[in-house]
Amino acid sequence: MENGRKMYRDCAEILVRREEIAQAVRKLGEIITHDYEGKAPVMVCILKGASVFFTDLAREIDLPVEMDFMIASSYGSGTSSSGNVRIRKDLDIDVAGRDVLIVEDIVDTGVTLNFIRNMLSHRGAASIRVATLLDKPSRRKVDLKADYFCFTIPNAFVVGYGLDYDEKYRNLPDICILSPEIYQK
Ligand code: IMP
Ligand code: MG
Repeated sequence: MENGRKMYRDCAEILVRREEIAQAVRKLGEIITHDYEGKAPVMVCILKGASVFFTDLAREIDLPVEMDFMIASSYGSGTSSSGNVRIRKDLDIDVAGRDVLIVEDIVDTGVTLNFIRNMLSHRGAASIRVATLLDKPSRRKVDLKADYFCFTIPNAFVVGYGLDYDEKYRNLPDICILSPEIYQK
């Protein structure tokens, strides 16, 4: 597959190519720049999955943003989340009174983001919006709609552009469907 890179061997299909991603991220950056005109939002990156999207998106936003990072684990094994969310690295910035833009890689069941959104709301954020690279609406367990998203995808397990399986494949430049043999082993 692509460039003969060895990492692509475990992929069944390229779902979204890097050029398409770049175009969508650019467009989303323009929309966010427009929507937050005159404001200085705090961009919150949900590590590790959102890291690649976050840094690309931030550079497409023409506003004096601040960046902060959070690690949330939703304990479970394999390819689905358990619903048990734990914060393993919290924000440094106090979000009270701030406009917060949460940046996530994918909204799947919605459990992780719902937890984080409620937490930041309790801390007194002035506004909270969610920007996600991918939306998998067919799997939703809680009522959560992303304010901004780049792509809606079918119910398949994807890797690349920050998304992992067992901590691997995050550095694939495209979003790929992982071959089921890899996680069914
Ligand atoms: P949730 O089910 O919406 O709570 O999703 C929590 C996390 O599961 C996401 O932030 C991702 O890190 C991970 N996840 C969900 N679906 C996928 C996928 O297709 N590939 C890789 N990670 C995923
Ligand atoms: Mg994640």
